[in-house]
Amino acid sequence: MKIKTLLSPLNVDDLYFTNKTTVVIDVLRATTTIVTALNNGAKEIIPVGSIEFAIKISGDAFSSLTLLAGERNTKKIEGFALGNSPLEFSNEIVNGKSIVLFTTNGSKAIVKAKYSSRLFITSFLNSASVAKKVNDSEELNILCSGNNGLFSFEDSACAGDLIDEILQINENVELDDASKTCHMLFQKNKRSLRKMLSETEHGKKLIEQGFKDDIKYAAQKNIIDLVPQFGKGSIKLSN
Ligand code: MLT
Repeated sequence: MKIKTLLSPLNVDDLYFTNKTTVVIDVLRATTTIVTALNNGAKEIIPVGSIEFAIKISGDAFSSLTLLAGERNTKKIEGFALGNSPLEFSNEIVNGKSIVLFTTNGSKAIVKAKYSSRLFITSFLNSASVAKKVNDSEELNILCSGNNGLFSFEDSACAGDLIDEILQINENVELDDASKTCHMLFQKNKRSLRKMLSETEHGKKLIEQGFKDDIKYAAQKNIIDLVPQFGKGSIKLSN
């Protein structure tokens, strides 16, 4: 398998993903939140690229079945039911619901990769399951959501975690330079993912805004055994 890691969505055209197997990462916090929501019984997550579009597709007719969720500058958007803290997406709140999700980087990265033939979502919570799912690919693209078009330490380390999980089950893997670097970042930090997340730029911002518990939660390895997959406009549990 050849693994290629895109360190941010900047300079990648939507059409690049056509016919590719892609895994998207926004470990703080969108992809951690998506994994949690599906694990807690959400029917589907509909990622969107703008707040206006989120409001447009969550019309009154579906209001009891649809929840609007998302953040701007880490905080819940005014009028939305939920923010982007994974801890908000409990079974009581999300079970059976369709969730329309807008986030600064994560939901946009997923939308960008929508033409992939297979598009999966990972985080530290579920990377072993995702590794097994993509292990049949000849070529794998890992897309880090990054930080406003720039490099994000935590997404790159999480890409390294997925690569590490794949290397444990597949001896025939070729890494590009970015993938090798991500794998080194993960190996250097794997003993204390919580400390690593807390010391990143976005981690520090989340702590300042009162989301310290989100970091503790997002740092847990393989506590959830499921694979979210995007198809026909929404993310559901993969078969
Ligand atoms: C993002 O998409 O940039 C993040 O998930 C932001 C956050 O809510 O921490």
